[in-house]
Amino acid sequence: MSKKLFIETLGCAMNVRDSEHMIAELHEKEGYELTQNSAEADLILINTCSVREKPVHKLFSELGVFNKQKKEGAKIGVCGCTASHLGKEIIKKAPYVNFVLGARNVSRITDVLHRDKAVETAIDYDESQFAFKDFRSSPYKAYINISIGCDKQCTFCIVPQTRGEEISIPTELIVAEVRRAVAGGAKEVFLLGQNVNNYGRRFSGEHEKINFTELLRRVSAVEGLERIRFTSPHPLHMDDEFIEEFARNPKICKSMHMPLQSGSTSLLKAMKRGYSKEWFLNRAAKLREMVPDVSISTDIIVAFPGESDADFEDTMEVLNAVKFEQVFSFKYSPRPHTEAAEYTNVIDPELASERLTRLQARHDEILDEISEKHLGRVYRVYFEELRPEGMVAGRSDNNILIKAEGSEELLGTFADVKITKVSRLVQTGEIVG
Ligand code: 5AD
Ligand code: SF4
Repeated sequence: MSKKLFIETLGCAMNVRDSEHMIAELHEKEGYELTQNSAEADLILINTCSVREKPVHKLFSELGVFNKQKKEGAKIGVCGCTASHLGKEIIKKAPYVNFVLGARNVSRITDVLHRDKAVETAIDYDESQFAFKDFRSSPYKAYINISIGCDKQCTFCIVPQTRGEEISIPTELIVAEVRRAVAGGAKEVFLLGQNVNNYGRRFSGEHEKINFTELLRRVSAVEGLERIRFTSPHPLHMDDEFIEEFARNPKICKSMHMPLQSGSTSLLKAMKRGYSKEWFLNRAAKLREMVPDVSISTDIIVAFPGESDADFEDTMEVLNAVKFEQVFSFKYSPRPHTEAAEYTNVIDPELASERLTRLQARHDEILDEISEKHLGRVYRVYFEELRPEGMVAGRSDNNILIKAEGSEELLGTFADVKITKVSRLVQTGEIVG
């Protein structure tokens, strides 16, 4: 009988890809098969996120539950960003954990597996050219890393401490991986990095230096590939050349993530984001002008230390001006080893909650306006998942989540869908072609 692996993945798309890498390595080298049931697993992995404090607290209660329910002799491993950040502390607090494997060290999974109480968390470990075995959680869409780590020093962010310095993956390796994914049936690729449009900044070894815009051109030349998505770009690096390529290239999906963080130029300075309110508004306006159907998503932090009423109003102004199609909003959460954790001008938690509620309520109104406009329109949808009650769901080029009546044979295919019912999160329609 094969050994069974249960893996829980928290956090961002980079973690999803890291989990796929670990699944592939464990399958190829150790014969593990996936299970959805932790109680029958021989190996339980949690791939953690440490970007905010709450999930870190939850980790230990979750570990306790896994430890109680696990099969006799089963191993537990903690991987990912919290593993990088807490290291051996994890084994101190939860002595039944068998190993700790940082976000920059996933290639070592089959090694730590055989070293009880191993802790591998070096952030200078270079995985930029590591050839992982292939495993994809979706046959329709392929996640592909284009860089690892992050060189920005945003004062709120723990990621440079967990994922280390930024290294771009050589272009020829990326293009070869895209080709392999397309040959395997994927029509869409999702290019991943903490800071994708800073691509080409630093390679490990001698490699052709091209920028992200040129990388997009090369990837889009792969025959059989229909859609390219990427995350996350940084507003600072959204130059004209990049926006023009985004607008012009038909394979690039017309949805852009533009993490604002704050609308106040002085707070953006305190966050060391490198752009102003005006620059952000100018880039968003250029995008909307060049790509009328574009959808723009964003991340916003409220109650960063020192955020005055006027600063918060600046954020609301940007929200109202850009009318983002999607907003991920968070209360500031102080993180260890970050510059902002030392700032003393913290915001009262009640005021922080009030601001978050106001921002989200206003965004709900914006969403109602936006979704009304979908009614009666036809979008080309790439179906990717089955939904209950005989429905399938997928996304339009500009990232609208759409479901329609249909079954398995539609998965991995495109269809034109006319929207018949709208809501904030998912639109319903019927296939018209
Ligand atoms: N507190 C709150 N939100 C944070 N993010 C990153 N660090 C913090 C923090 N310390 C948010 C940012 C980032 C997203 C992934 O998480 O908005 O873009
Ligand atoms: Fe979480 Fe950031 Fe690590 Fe992704 S890179 S898992 S968002 S801490």
